[in-house]
Amino acid sequence: MKDAVDDMLPRSIILQALAGHVPDRTPVWMMRQAGRYLPEYRELRAKAGDFLSLCYNPDYATEVTLQPIRRFGFDAAILFSDILVVPHALGMKLAFETGEGPRLDPVKSLSDLKGLRETLDPSRTSPVFEAVAKIRASLLAETALLGFCGAPWTVATYMIAGRGTPDQAPARLASLTDPAFFDTLIDRLVEVSADYLVGQLEAGADAVQIFDSWSGVLDPESFVRWTIRPIARLVRLVRTKRPDARIIAFPKGATPAGLTRLVEETGVDAVGLDWTAERKAVRLALGGKVALQGNLDPLALIAGGAGLDAAIDALMADLRGAAHIFNLGHGIRPETPIAHVEQMLKRVRGF
Ligand code: CP3
Repeated sequence: MKDAVDDMLPRSIILQALAGHVPDRTPVWMMRQAGRYLPEYRELRAKAGDFLSLCYNPDYATEVTLQPIRRFGFDAAILFSDILVVPHALGMKLAFETGEGPRLDPVKSLSDLKGLRETLDPSRTSPVFEAVAKIRASLLAETALLGFCGAPWTVATYMIAGRGTPDQAPARLASLTDPAFFDTLIDRLVEVSADYLVGQLEAGADAVQIFDSWSGVLDPESFVRWTIRPIARLVRLVRTKRPDARIIAFPKGATPAGLTRLVEETGVDAVGLDWTAERKAVRLALGGKVALQGNLDPLALIAGGAGLDAAIDALMADLRGAAHIFNLGHGIRPETPIAHVEQMLKRVRGF
């Protein structure tokens, strides 16, 4: 019987964990694994000219996605793109200034929103879907391909402020002062993000991750309203078209209680934990209902040395026997030494 079940397990250990199995070894990938800490990324980015040209050229996006797989053999590749492709495909102007982050023309009212598209511009999304198909065709079956989008709340924070801000006050204020506008914006993002994820899954993504990088600035009630409910609707919409879709949510800054409610109300297959998460409390609260992904402090990876080994050992011990996908608690930073990534992989894999 066990053999028959084993035969049915996916080849990818990430997909095994997302199906609730505890794989033979801990799968590992890193948020932002394709990026500026890699010289081969910096070289191709210089050739492409700017970040968005990398995102919208399927050959470049494929190459950049595969760079960390070739170098480190991670168990998952993540599509190289950005969460702000969605507002861009709704018709917003978008630019990435070197060293300064994203710049958009802010959307501040219902009338601004009327100037945007109802659905995503296919000329923006088709190069992304083409990249997904190319990447999937280049990977071994053992390596899962993850697609992604930003969660409605997080994408809305950038659309309203037009840039990153310390605590996303402009979006929090808009949700309080202009609920008609804010609700409409979130609804639009739920719908188009579902189309976007379905497009990636149809092009060959094996699973998708929803990044809610700014859910940590919400009070508990707003967390339910702006993080949990929109993600729940997004998951439901994706699964009306792709009933078997495997979905990871990364609600950065969520408490154990928030994570528990999110899992119950959204039906995601895994939650990503940031580096501040109380792993034991989360494990206890979720009791094996979903896979747990995370959560090494990206600064421990910069620091390296014995401290890095100790942080990895503590993390692995806390989640031993769980369906655990090893990851960082947020994206890898550009200044991280490559040797420390190698040290991390050796420690996690045990060889
Ligand atoms: O993880 C990966 O390797 C896949 C690619 C990916 C990028 N951004 C590439 C990127 C993914 C999944 C994202 C998601 C993303 N983008 C998020 C959610 C995750 C998170 O980090 O919280 C957010 C909030 C964004 C928006 C964004 N994109 C910001 C705020 C910035 C500027 C900050 C920075 O790191 O420079 C970006 C730019 C960006 N996105 C870069 C990369 C590799 C750097 C661009 C460059 O080469 O200069």
